[in-house]
Amino acid sequence: MSGNFLDYKTALEVLKTEVRDGLSAEELMDPQISGGLTFNDFLILPGFIDFSADKVDCEVNISRNFRIKTPFVSSPMDTVTETSMAINMALLGGVGVLHNNCSADEQADMVRSVKKFENGFITDPIVISPETTLGEVWALKDKYAFSGFPVTEDGKLNSKLLGILTSRDIQFIYDSETKVSDLMTCELVVAQEGVTLEEANQILRESKKGKLPIVNGNYECVALLSRSDLLKNRNFPLASKRPHSKQLVCAAAIGTRPDDRERLAKLVDAGLDIVIIDSSQGNSSYQIEMIKYIKETYGNRIDVIAGNVVTREQAANLIAAGADGLRVGMGSGSICITQEVMAVGRPLGTAVYRIAKFARQFGVPVIADGGIQNVGHITKALALGASTVMMGSLLAGTAESPGEYFYHEGKRLKKFRGMGSLDAMEKGGPNAKENSGSMKRYFSESDSIKVAQGVAGAVVDKGSIRKFVPYLFAGLQHGLQDIGVRSIKDLQEGVYNSVVRFEKRTAAAQLEGGVHGLHSYEKRLFS
Ligand code: IMP
Repeated sequence: MSGNFLDYKTALEVLKTEVRDGLSAEELMDPQISGGLTFNDFLILPGFIDFSADKVDCEVNISRNFRIKTPFVSSPMDTVTETSMAINMALLGGVGVLHNNCSADEQADMVRSVKKFENGFITDPIVISPETTLGEVWALKDKYAFSGFPVTEDGKLNSKLLGILTSRDIQFIYDSETKVSDLMTCELVVAQEGVTLEEANQILRESKKGKLPIVNGNYECVALLSRSDLLKNRNFPLASKRPHSKQLVCAAAIGTRPDDRERLAKLVDAGLDIVIIDSSQGNSSYQIEMIKYIKETYGNRIDVIAGNVVTREQAANLIAAGADGLRVGMGSGSICITQEVMAVGRPLGTAVYRIAKFARQFGVPVIADGGIQNVGHITKALALGASTVMMGSLLAGTAESPGEYFYHEGKRLKKFRGMGSLDAMEKGGPNAKENSGSMKRYFSESDSIKVAQGVAGAVVDKGSIRKFVPYLFAGLQHGLQDIGVRSIKDLQEGVYNSVVRFEKRTAAAQLEGGVHGLHSYEKRLFS
């Protein structure tokens, strides 16, 4: 090229004299120009990289007093979070919120299982009775692919241990009517409840057995340790644990009715750390009373996350009542028809930005909830001020979500439904009114016609969250690296100082940003 150019060495000096590229968050969110924005409407501009992605720190507060190492939270939905999801989310550095579409006792049992969980021990093993037949054992083996079952007096956990049935015991037996009592091994090596994982592993190694039942003082089976698990046992350096007890952090949802106070008492008794008041429109006198009641009754024993809200005006009421965290989002969830039916709601990006900016003055963290579809959305939600993201559909259909897989048109699927769908509200049949948290979230006592706010459907098998959540984590770290920030804290400071810049995407730009122009392709997200 020829011509009169400036000296290339002055590029940085010249840049300083020019208007900055992109928009500040405040300019991006200008309501006069933008209306409500959601994640696909904008991009974050890349920054400067002088560090590796694995050094990016993603530690955040989920609520005023709970700090976690990854910003991931699973939704309190009955097709997303029960014991297994809550345990695994906590092991991977996030938090699972146990749903309340069940009786208070069932929910308290789930809390207890999460708090009692110790990595390596199977705290809910499949247990059989001496009366179980070989045919039934074959069916269990097919279903769970296990090779050994503890045998107890009444075929349940916490019942007297009588023996163990392993593959070897049934190898050459072909009569499906044979009773387990005739086959089981009764000479057992066991460990006492309270044994550490290290000690139990040692016993298992020395015994050369495949399984080690854990018993209490009455010789009742309370857990199991398996040699095959021992081999694949991983450490969970990011796990969300209480500092002293080392127990996993456990959160659960409740409603705002008087009987929810009794429910909460049971949950706290079981060891609950964080309660989420589950309401689609959280700015109500019921919720404010509930927050005040919890604060007066339990003080700092548990944190209260209130919501859902989408405006500062709603948020201010809940913060003033004492909320330790806010759940933000209305009508943006994948299974949600609230905006269509109720005509209320707000695009999640705008809602998160407005509320997070307001709430940070009071030290109240915000959860972006509903509509998180990919890693990019997570990075954007955090950039707009959310401390954590709550996910329903992204985590549904995993091995840890409740429900069985089924096949439809050649695809392996799991059920996934909105908690405001008629399907979820009718759970429990005629007794649903007493049991259903979902009914409380979406209806008042006097409603004679149920107006659904959600749909019921299915999602494809996503494998285990033990692979999926680390993928989300690594993807987030890479996103932050591209933006040029070393932590979520730096990201948010950069946004509030207008150093991190944004740009809106036109419809054409959105198409350009997706895969295009191919005849066909396979979208594999991680390996
Ligand atoms: P997703 O991550 O897009 O699937 O959204 C999950 C979120 O949708 C949940 O955390 C709830 O806030 C919300 N939600 C759950 N069930 C319903 C419903 O039936 N109607 C509206 N919103 C729902």
